Amino acid sequence: MSASIKGVVLAGGLGTRLSPLTKVTNKHLLPVYKKPMIYYPLEKLAAAGIREVMLVTGGPFAGDFLKLLGNGRQLGLRDLHYTYQEGEGGIAEALGLCEHFVEGDRMCVILGDNIFSGDIRPGLSRFLEQKSGAKLFLREVPDPQRFGVAELKGDRILRIEEKPKKPKSKYAVTGIYMYDREVFAAIRTVKPSGRGELEITDVNNIYIRKGTLTYDILNGFWTDAGTFDSLLRATNLVHETPEMH
Ligand code: G1P
Repeated sequence: MSASIKGVVLAGGLGTRLSPLTKVTNKHLLPVYKKPMIYYPLEKLAAAGIREVMLVTGGPFAGDFLKLLGNGRQLGLRDLHYTYQEGEGGIAEALGLCEHFVEGDRMCVILGDNIFSGDIRPGLSRFLEQKSGAKLFLREVPDPQRFGVAELKGDRILRIEEKPKKPKSKYAVTGIYMYDREVFAAIRTVKPSGRGELEITDVNNIYIRKGTLTYDILNGFWTDAGTFDSLLRATNLVHETPEMH
């Protein structure tokens, strides 16, 4: 499985929603119970047999990732690569920096502030059975307006809206994405959104229009950790889940 799929963890941004915690360190290095936040997505990839990973970081404390993670072997990775995103160009721009690393393979992308207990292996196997395209992982949440939200019809996603005021469902698009190599061509066609970023939601909508996007429902708990409340929630959920310690 690891031969044909690479891992990408996105850990850029300035984490301004967590200031002053992020004044002297990167958001993804903050603690979530016993470990730095960034350990969790990296451990998920390693557990799924994806041992070659690119970490995209940014901001003034990017060098601290190298001090903490080194070559990634301690976390069960074979190779941990690093790259640097200038500015705040968004998730899709950060992924675009990984084109040479991915080299025509498929990829599993996890946002560095997404903490979840489920196993990605079954979804990954189903994705590898697809001829092409992408797979998303959805999760019912009480506050969908904070996320990308999927409009569903049966087993299809009709459209995804980024942070809608009036969400069409309660299903958030989690920060776990699986793509084929076509994602890089799609990224090149998207334009910056109102918040000045290349939105991963626009990229996902391109796959929907091509009819090659599938989804799974993520089991276990899932939360982001980029606000005070969600960071506290992440810590509590990990605390209550001994297999994640
Ligand atoms: C990003 C995506 C959003 C997704 C969320 C998951 O939001 O844009 O579609 O639902 O991650 O954590 P952001 O954290 O950039 O606001």
